[in-house]
Amino acid sequence: MEYIQIFSPATVANISCGFDILGLCLDTVGDKMIIRKVPEKGVRITRIEGASLPFDVHKNVAGVAALALLKAIETDFGFEIEIIKKIKPGSGVGSSAASATGAVYGINELLGKPFSKSELVQFAMEGEKLASGSMHADNLAPAIFGGFTLVRGYDPLDIISINTPKELFVSVIHPEIEIKTEEARAILKKTVSLKKAILQWGNVGGLISGLFLEDYELISRSLHDEIVEPHRSILIPGFNDLKETAIQNGALGAGISGSGPSVFALSKGEKTAQKVADSMSIVYKELDIAHKIYVSKINTEGIKKINQ
Ligand code: HSE
Repeated sequence: MEYIQIFSPATVANISCGFDILGLCLDTVGDKMIIRKVPEKGVRITRIEGASLPFDVHKNVAGVAALALLKAIETDFGFEIEIIKKIKPGSGVGSSAASATGAVYGINELLGKPFSKSELVQFAMEGEKLASGSMHADNLAPAIFGGFTLVRGYDPLDIISINTPKELFVSVIHPEIEIKTEEARAILKKTVSLKKAILQWGNVGGLISGLFLEDYELISRSLHDEIVEPHRSILIPGFNDLKETAIQNGALGAGISGSGPSVFALSKGEKTAQKVADSMSIVYKELDIAHKIYVSKINTEGIKKINQ
């Protein structure tokens, strides 16, 4: 195989209580990438569509992730990368993670899959570091593994796949403003009170249990963030109204998607998820805020090859 075309999915990181450790994979939104094996060694980015991003491989998350992989294996050929962005950078649904995972997944496939999924996440983390100044994997893991994932530990990297309840759907609303992850991380407090930590790890345990038990009521009770959301929500216009409306219209819970500005809600059933998305859209129409909405099932497959 000399050439591969990829669908690299958008993801929702944190899922309220799981800052930097929990994530889920979306189904309907994602970038397209094409990776080509070429005789010249090294990595080149030959096409970028849909966003203004650097072609310099050392300044592009896909390039940096690809170089991290190629440091770990000797090849006497190289790769060209084409990136067709559908996920807006700074939208909060894992735009940089999609670029980084697309690069490492594509190259790994063209090399005959020498690396495991976890190793691909490790390489892609170099791209996330370039994008946000931090090596988190909560968008990368669900993009590569699909479904819900838990990063149980970072040193060494330990990724756990979590069960996806069959009737769970995600609504996402994206106000068309950009929030840089690095800036959304800079406003966070570096210490947490024991009282808040106890609430948070109770909710993380509850959410994971709820997902495995397919207990929607337990999932609902656990979708709270005591630590990050109170600080970041001020960056998102109408956040409290969006969350309140989502829950009034039947969502199990709602919160900030990754570092924002997108807001996500989880619902039981597609019909409810659509109603929730429409209700959040009305909030933004009333506030005259340009936005996009998505309703998606959880993508349990993750990143994948598409027809060439
Ligand atoms: N866990 C990360 C954050 C996700 O919230 O900063 C965004 O990349």
